[in-house]
Amino acid sequence: MQHIQWVDGQADDHPAWMDRGLLFADGVFESMRVQDGGLPLWSWHRDRLMQAIDSLHLPVSMARIEDHLAGHLAQLKEGVLRLTLTRGQGGGYRPRADAKVCLISQWRELGTGPSGLRATLLQQRLGHVPMLAGLKHLQKLEQVLLQGELDSHPGCDEALVQDIAGQVIEGVASNVFMVHRYVLHTPAIEQCGVAGVMRAWILDRCRRVRIPTRIRALEVSDFLNADEVFFCNAVRGIMPVHELLGRSMTTGVITSKLQLELAQVLRHA
Ligand SMILES: Cc1ncc(COP(=O)(O)O)c(C=O)c1O
Repeated sequence: MQHIQWVDGQADDHPAWMDRGLLFADGVFESMRVQDGGLPLWSWHRDRLMQAIDSLHLPVSMARIEDHLAGHLAQLKEGVLRLTLTRGQGGGYRPRADAKVCLISQWRELGTGPSGLRATLLQQRLGHVPMLAGLKHLQKLEQVLLQGELDSHPGCDEALVQDIAGQVIEGVASNVFMVHRYVLHTPAIEQCGVAGVMRAWILDRCRRVRIPTRIRALEVSDFLNADEVFFCNAVRGIMPVHELLGRSMTTGVITSKLQLELAQVLRHA
């Protein structure tokens, strides 16, 4: 079937303009920390990626993904590798029968972040999309708008983000935990939000070192009454909150212990 396209006023038949990631956000990605030419948390990213491939019925094997990564990983310096998988090119909502999953790797340097975060609360709220909850899919327009709102709070590094029901779900680009009386709590990711690799690693580590955890509905007041609060993601690790909505906090014992455990894992990776 004939197809003609124009880009910024010019006829341009580059196939990338027909990529389903661009047209429908039809794909997933992983942002991974690179260290010594390797991905220290790869097994965790791999598990989430396999779940996403399964949920979205993406026709790609893990062997092909690992081959793709092996082609360039060894030459990468310390930083962040974003691996994007799209369902390939063309079609409407129904993909073309011959669409081939496209694998894209993009590396960037990682600057230093603050040692303690100043966090606020955002007004814009996440919608419920249970079909996609937990996945790190390409549809990140809510996060783009949330980041814009966060940037209107000078000096703030992260924020509690609620869903339309008023439950705290995560941060703008991270998951969130709080400690109350030596129990670690984190929101359930069922209606929306990303089930982060670092969140999964922390929950697993807590089981091993016997820190009690609860995954449950959490409100802003729970965080304001907490003994410790931290955000986390796979790139920056565990980020303690030092100020939450004007209330100062310190890095507590559980946060410090988990930071230490993570540092050891990364050192020996
Ligand atoms: C919206 C959102 N939630 C949670 C996370 C944490 O995910 P991960 O631990 O896999 O980096 C991220 C990471 O970028 C994110 O963008």
